[in-house]
Amino acid sequence: MIIIKSPEEIQLMRESGTVTAAILRELANLVKPGVSTKDIGDFVEKKILAHGMQPTFKGYNGYPAGACVSVNDEVVHGIPKKSRLLREGDIVSVDVGSTWKGYVSDAARTYGVGQVSEAARRLIEVTEASFFEGLKYCRVGCKLSDISSAIQQKAEGAGFSVVRDFVGHGVGRSMHEDPQIPNYGKAGRGPRLAKGMVLAIEPMINAGTYEVEVLQDNWTAVTADGSLSAHYENTVVITDGEPELLTL
Ligand code: MF3
Ligand code: CO
Repeated sequence: MIIIKSPEEIQLMRESGTVTAAILRELANLVKPGVSTKDIGDFVEKKILAHGMQPTFKGYNGYPAGACVSVNDEVVHGIPKKSRLLREGDIVSVDVGSTWKGYVSDAARTYGVGQVSEAARRLIEVTEASFFEGLKYCRVGCKLSDISSAIQQKAEGAGFSVVRDFVGHGVGRSMHEDPQIPNYGKAGRGPRLAKGMVLAIEPMINAGTYEVEVLQDNWTAVTADGSLSAHYENTVVITDGEPELLTL
């Protein structure tokens, strides 16, 4: 069941989203060679707590950190580590969730560390652009898979592949609500979008195969072929008119 949010609930999610967005913006300055993925996770967690909010991911199914930090071939759910130092040319995806008065916002960005290859830069750019293709269908009357299809076409049209094993989702009092939102599929399927739905749309795009594997830590998902992966996510409200981005 897709939970429709009241204006009051959306206002709390807006407040949460503002903080999530600000943290992701500030991270652009922190991401440098020599910084550890734990430095990034700690920064995110401290900032969330400083705003009187809760780091949504911490303790979620036992997840140990306040952010997911995934480097290069790591797709999502990378666990911050003191020993994992960023190097010039890496790309790093950071996923942040903040809970404010019981309401969650969820967003992710992929950053280049120093100068990155042209191929890496393009992957990051296309992943972000694929989100904005999907966003065009975040409107009353569109069907859910219109979003999925638009994302897939943009990513595959650029020669990249769409991760199947992880999907976007409804978001609200819980981080993961209905519906599931695959980043691939045929248009015109699934529920019709309605005013007051709040969706976390999050393309995860690989340079090589779409297949992923989960490491021994039971969290970190990596590309099966070792190719680079990028992630871009925002929390989006369906309105009468233009969709509202809560985390941008
Ligand atoms: N944004 C991710 C998601 O939508 C983050 C969840 S990570 C977890 O699933 F650690 F909290 F599970
Ligand atoms: Co999410």
